[in-house]
Amino acid sequence: MRLKFVPGAHEAIEASEMVLKDLETYRGNFKSVFKNEFPIHIEIGMGKGSFIIEMAKRNPNINFIGIEKYDSVLIRALEKIEEDIPNLRFIRMDATSIDQIFYKEIDVIYLNFSDPWPKTKHAHRRLSSPIFLKRYDTLFKDKKEIIMKTDNRKLFEYSLISFNEYGYHFEEISLDLYNDDIGDNVATEYETKFHNLGFPIYKIKISK
Ligand SMILES: C[S@@+](CC[C@H](N)C(=O)[O-])C[C@H]1O[C@@H](n2cnc3c(N)ncnc32)[C@H](O)[C@@H]1O
Repeated sequence: MRLKFVPGAHEAIEASEMVLKDLETYRGNFKSVFKNEFPIHIEIGMGKGSFIIEMAKRNPNINFIGIEKYDSVLIRALEKIEEDIPNLRFIRMDATSIDQIFYKEIDVIYLNFSDPWPKTKHAHRRLSSPIFLKRYDTLFKDKKEIIMKTDNRKLFEYSLISFNEYGYHFEEISLDLYNDDIGDNVATEYETKFHNLGFPIYKIKISK
């Protein structure tokens, strides 16, 4: 994603109650943010937020936290919020330290159109790499569940091997989501773009 400096983005994020700060105070107790016992789903690398905002609106009995590294991207998600969505919050952070933020409280992780990092020397930055899978281990409350979508075949193939070698079971898989029964699929910004360009969309749901 090409990043543009967005004047005022940092200040708007700092001022927003939708964006969680002082994260260490919530570790192991993120349910206190939502004041209920509903499951918590997170999207890592949420981009401009279309997916997680729509998921939160459609699923009021699930709490959603969207994680994004850059102010200039997260601000675009904030700008989309027009009404109160009590089951949605955002965090601006680099997910490399995600295991220091959550502890045994996450039910599902979404990895949507993650940056592919095509060079082998950057493989450790892929959000489906073994190093990230290890970081995710202590986030989950009980059963571990990850749902990934991508247009990038090489990243998808890499991820299948990574998930398999890490002991995850493949529960659902699609090599062409829009020609399979996509059910109540919620599209992301990248998904809409690449689907409209005619690329197949790959999806996998794994658990452990
Ligand atoms: C290719 S975009 C996809 C955005 C969105 N999920 C979608 O499908 O439209 C990848 C996003 O992940 C974010 N990202 C990449 N690595 C990250 C990391 N380590 N921690 C948090 N966000 C990250 C990027 O800043 C970018 O916004």
